[in-house]
Amino acid sequence: MKVIVTGNFEQTCETAANLISGVIANKPDARLGLATGSSAGGVYPYLIKANKEKKIDFSKVSTINLDEYAGLPPDHTQSYRYFMDTNLFDHVNIDKSNTFVASGIGDPEKIIGEFRAQLKKAPIDIQLLGIGVDGHIGFNEPGNVLYCDAHAEELTNSTIEANSRFFNNRDEVPIKAYTMGMGDIMRAKRLVLVATGAQKAEAVRGLIIGDEVTTRNPSTFIKLHPDAVVIIDKELADLVGYKN
Ligand code: F6R
Repeated sequence: MKVIVTGNFEQTCETAANLISGVIANKPDARLGLATGSSAGGVYPYLIKANKEKKIDFSKVSTINLDEYAGLPPDHTQSYRYFMDTNLFDHVNIDKSNTFVASGIGDPEKIIGEFRAQLKKAPIDIQLLGIGVDGHIGFNEPGNVLYCDAHAEELTNSTIEANSRFFNNRDEVPIKAYTMGMGDIMRAKRLVLVATGAQKAEAVRGLIIGDEVTTRNPSTFIKLHPDAVVIIDKELADLVGYKN
């Protein structure tokens, strides 16, 4: 696992976007694994810029997202489909029929079946990740066990609390989500995790300091991946006590 320390969050996002652009440049029909949230969301303006400047072409690219809130329809402003459309897909030359975000509504068994089928279609060339305050990746929450395949997950209080900033109040935050499993994430050819902010310090410390791999901090499994890059800013690196 490689750790890159940048000067600030903007540089973190630009570095991650450059890695993704590099994959698309080498493989025009690349399959991207995408993420939502404020950290991963910072990466998309750089991809949009590169597309507008004709440095990368999305016409043959396909994408699959890590997760979606259970219970939110695609046109809900806090659904991850809505996030992806408004933060990336509507601004680049991607064919939206080549983008997949699990449905948040409908029969859970069918949703999970469709999610798993989409994951089987083609390997993910590069997977963008954020990290939860509790160490989750996708919505694989800490606990006694983690799950390999796409599934429904109950969100932890920590996640509901953290994500309530995007809703009018805590009661509006969905308590469940559909997520890629840990195996789906680990099968991606390359992982790029971006993190910023003091609230992530404990989870990031577990990830980049020391050798422990634990279901209590799902992000630590990234240590087992053969090609993973973690990008953080100097402020966070200092907080966790990381030295190059
Ligand atoms: C979102 C996702 C989550 C977020 C994480 C951090 O698709 O998979 O794991 O990456 O909750 O979110 P932010 O960056 O908003 O703190």
